[in-house]
Amino acid sequence: MRILAINSSFRGSKGVSAFLIDKLFIGAIEKGAECETIHLAELQINHCIDCQLCQTPKHLLKCTFDEKDNASFVFRKMREADLIIFATPVYVLGMSSLLKTLFERFYSTAKVGEFHFTKSGMFFHHGDQSLTQKPFVPLVVYDNLETEMPKNIISYFKTYSKFTDAELVGTLIRKSAGMLDVSASPTSNHTISDSIFQAYVQAGRELVTQKKISKLTEKKANQPIIRLPFFVKPMLKLGIGKEQIEKGHARMMKSVMKRDKF
Ligand SMILES: Cc1cc2nc3c(=O)[nH]c(=O)nc-3n(C[C@H](O)[C@H](O)[C@H](O)COP(=O)(O)O)c2cc1C
Repeated sequence: MRILAINSSFRGSKGVSAFLIDKLFIGAIEKGAECETIHLAELQINHCIDCQLCQTPKHLLKCTFDEKDNASFVFRKMREADLIIFATPVYVLGMSSLLKTLFERFYSTAKVGEFHFTKSGMFFHHGDQSLTQKPFVPLVVYDNLETEMPKNIISYFKTYSKFTDAELVGTLIRKSAGMLDVSASPTSNHTISDSIFQAYVQAGRELVTQKKISKLTEKKANQPIIRLPFFVKPMLKLGIGKEQIEKGHARMMKSVMKRDKF
């Protein structure tokens, strides 16, 4: 089984996304998978400019940027993969523009004038199923502690799944990512970070053995690092303790800024 991770963090191999992909791959490799990560930040992927050349009979499904950038290289790797991890940090409430730019380049692989009815019951245009129909896992990381924060990205991938018929086989969401203790070990069980890393390794194993991540493993991988007591939000709404909480958050952010160790 070949697993391809497409990492769209601008911090490339030095970011939390890459760090978590590596944990996932420990389990997948243990179960015999071939694993590879592509860091989009290291490649050149031009924006689709809607020139429509790819939709003309003479130039059908050829992009004006073929051989001029790395999109076709990534598409080749996607076609060769059995499963894809789409890793993205939350950037201003949405996915990384690096990933969205790559997705927009799918346009040149689809006959957009040809109508198609998906298994999920959606009207859509023709698409290159060898590219877009791979089972996939979104891996979303962000620093905020609100569950609302990655909502747009998760919703995007659910819709992506419906229109492409690609099976969503797990969803990994790492909130408060800057608070992960990167020195934690997936082999011990002392901290929340240990337990999260163990869950990532287990998720990697399950992707190979069960072709999906179990709900239990997903829950462990997605567990919060900080659990706010239930009364904090009502207090804040009443204006009680606001200043202390904000100061505490500023202290926390200072430690987050030391993340260069990734
Ligand atoms: C331009 C930019 C925008 C960001 N926007 C958000 C945001 O809206 N919400 C959030 O929680 N974190 C936001 N972050 C923080 C990143 O999501 C967070 O640091 C993440 O862990 C980075 O992943 P990486 O280390 O793999 O690059 C933003 C970071 C950058 C650089």
